[in-house]
Amino acid sequence: MGEIRRLRGFRDIFDEEIEKFRLIENASRKYLTLLGFREVKIPVLERTELFVRSIGTATDIVQKEMFTFVDASGDSVTLRPEATAGMVRAYIEAGLPSKERISKLFTVGPMFRHERPQKGRFREFNQVDVEVFGSRGPYIDAELIWLITLILREINVTDFTIEINSVGCKECRKKFLNVFSGYVSSKMELLCSDCRERASRNPLRIFDCKKDSCLQAISDSPVLSDHLCEECLNHFDGLRTYLRSFGIQFVQNERLVRGLDYYTKTVFEVRSERLGSQNAFVAGGRYDDLVKELGGPDIRGIGFAFGMERVSLLLSRGEEKRLPKVFVAISTEKLLGHVPNLVKILVEAGISTYCDPDARSLKSQMRYANSLNVDYVVIVGEDELKRNELTLRDMKTGTERSISLDLRELIEELRERFTEV
Ligand code: HAM
Repeated sequence: MGEIRRLRGFRDIFDEEIEKFRLIENASRKYLTLLGFREVKIPVLERTELFVRSIGTATDIVQKEMFTFVDASGDSVTLRPEATAGMVRAYIEAGLPSKERISKLFTVGPMFRHERPQKGRFREFNQVDVEVFGSRGPYIDAELIWLITLILREINVTDFTIEINSVGCKECRKKFLNVFSGYVSSKMELLCSDCRERASRNPLRIFDCKKDSCLQAISDSPVLSDHLCEECLNHFDGLRTYLRSFGIQFVQNERLVRGLDYYTKTVFEVRSERLGSQNAFVAGGRYDDLVKELGGPDIRGIGFAFGMERVSLLLSRGEEKRLPKVFVAISTEKLLGHVPNLVKILVEAGISTYCDPDARSLKSQMRYANSLNVDYVVIVGEDELKRNELTLRDMKTGTERSISLDLRELIEELRERFTEV
């Protein structure tokens, strides 16, 4: 029978990348907990209408990237392309608006978008998604951006740029769009076919076009930040002041717009030049109208999401934080009965332990141990056992010595060498 292969843009994630994901999650959990966030799990599958209403009918995500199908009950359902919409729904459905003044929530999991796969862009990808409900002032916007920098520092990602902008409220955006649409129609023949389509569907997205010809065509365009109402302007000023108080360096990018329609006021992206064209690895912003638009009370929200695949591309392997690995080998098959106790002692002491469950010759066990890249092999031998001893082989140096059968010396030595044990 033919082999069944995974779908294009979907991946199996192993070993080193899993370790990187864990590192990102652990660092995120550490600082999220310190700042009072709690973890929630929400469904991967939601009613299609949730995403259409929140992300916006004119966006690329809703127009062409959603995995949508009719389920057996005849309902149109969609694999979540992002988490914010589901988080808002869950927040409302759990009755949190009337129970908590401020709700700080996060979730970790897969998202699905039918995009063209390339480096750092997949059809299934993972996010750490963070949302705060119930705060209207700009302090929380700055605190979230500072939180991102804390997490990045913890995982040693240092070469990034934080870009911020304000896309204003509905009122300032409406006024700006009048001005901008007039400007765009004077440049129509210079724009690519995608941008011409955007001009009628979602003109702000023209700012997102990567083509040089379009960038040049709109290089002298009006920008939204020059058309903000007083409230939005004050909010943006406040954000910049708080960011400075947190000691955060940022760049104001007047052309930063986001691919989701729910944003109001603050938007931001964290980028690294090392990532090539998909260079934003964290992104987010404020959504002051979304809770209401999804049937909840008039409560403000703001959040961001880490793209875990993109962040892991920025991580180098952290050798020093690795757990030590020990292999338990037996010199002859009849000594297999000694293995469980030794494995038990090592694992209970917090040491990553391996053995060959179908013990073959010592030579084949050593080959297996080598392929696992273990630090030490403990060899159980008949003569040594009579002296209550085992042989310890250091796989880095190739040297061997005797150690006591209770493994106490080995465990102490590993504790000194590896801080994680
Ligand atoms: P987003 O910019 O669509 O925002 O995605 C956030 C991050 O997810 C991106 O910066 C990127 O790292 C990652 N990402 C997006 N698409 C892909 C893909 N196809 N493959 C790999 N990684 C990807 C949101 O999703 C908003 N919900 C963020 C937010 C939370 N805003 C407020 N709260």
